[in-house]
Amino acid sequence: MNPTRTIRVDLAGRSYDIAIGPGLVDRAGELSRPLLAAPRVTIVSDETVAPIYGARLAASFDKAGIKTTTVTVPAGESSKEFSSFARLMNELLDHRPDRKTTLVALGGGVVGDLTGFAASVLLRGVDFIQVPTTLLAQVDSSVGGKTGINTRHGKNLVGSFYQPRLVLADTTVLDSLPRRELLAGYAEVAKYGLIDDPAFWDWCEVNGTAVLTGDAAARTYAIEQSCLSKARIVAADERETTDLRALLNLGHTFGHALEAETGYGSELLHGEAVGAGMAMAFDLSAKLGLCPAADAQRVRHHLGAVGLPVRLRSIGGDNSRRWDAARLVDHMRGDKKAEGGKLTFVLARGIGKAFVTREVDEAGLRGLLDDAIAA
Ligand code: NAD
Ligand code: GLY
Repeated sequence: MNPTRTIRVDLAGRSYDIAIGPGLVDRAGELSRPLLAAPRVTIVSDETVAPIYGARLAASFDKAGIKTTTVTVPAGESSKEFSSFARLMNELLDHRPDRKTTLVALGGGVVGDLTGFAASVLLRGVDFIQVPTTLLAQVDSSVGGKTGINTRHGKNLVGSFYQPRLVLADTTVLDSLPRRELLAGYAEVAKYGLIDDPAFWDWCEVNGTAVLTGDAAARTYAIEQSCLSKARIVAADERETTDLRALLNLGHTFGHALEAETGYGSELLHGEAVGAGMAMAFDLSAKLGLCPAADAQRVRHHLGAVGLPVRLRSIGGDNSRRWDAARLVDHMRGDKKAEGGKLTFVLARGIGKAFVTREVDEAGLRGLLDDAIAA
């Protein structure tokens, strides 16, 4: 049996496949070749991922007769700064690309967001392919065409909707991913169950540990179900013009505030912030009488049980951080999801019943934040 699963992201002339399975780094040349405008690619990777998988990926392109150059950026969120983006564009241009050159993002969400944005503006737009190497990137950021970089005003405030031509999610590359990064990605997996797929959430409660400990079948299933959900939502609302795609922001209004407060660094990873944020979104839903308290408890329990930091005091490790509800609300106001000064939340009527609202009473929100800080 062919172990590769393929999911189509249906976007008319910009449709593309997500391939999921083992060994795809070594098959990238053969799988990409029919899609390339010309047999020329530039791989963009980071200083952690390039030494592990860069040579194998380049060899695979070479075997398929594709000329390859590589540009490497430092690992971590700082590579999404404007200055790093400018440096990358100049390095890409040093290789004298033409409009038929394809960029290949080999890395996590940082490399994917950065390369996608670079592709959207390099020579006014060249094709790009995603080879995501973190669980978060395989289940979320590599699919759907949101690209972007950060500014001093916040994260991802400069960017574009620009779809890749292909996504190759090689499940075996997750073997080298640090457990903390894997867990952060798992929060985004579980998110799909909480949004609108209660059966998948049930599956996560039973199989989450297997996904995290490396069970190949469980991992593949989790990635496949996540990509099916994301592909369906993106196909129906590519540019977030209705509230459908906005459901993917479950946990993000709270998460964004936590990330902003902790400085977008190693104290709290993006996926960890989303995990804590989803627990808070369900707690707020229960507090407002929208969602059964038992569902909110299930969310908090499962995410905590797999090892995600769902309590504010567990963030940062040594319980030294002093959280402040007013400051967290201020961060929420600066979020690009806020509209006309109104905060946007994804809340839930139960597991798998998420909805978008801009009508959250600020006193209730402050109360929830005070409770979370005290817990
Ligand atoms: P990341 O790209 O920083 O990767 C995390 C760390 O893991 C890095 O140090 C990286 O070098 C390392 N790494 C990656 N793959 C590895 C592997 N296979 N083995 C060993 N080490 C490996 O972080 P991330 O969590 O993948 O992505 C976070 C970024 O994604 C944020 O900038 C966030 O804004 C963005 N994001 C974008 C979207 C979107 O829709 N575009 C969605 C969610 C998140
Ligand atoms: N990660 C949110 C989105 O792709 O819309």
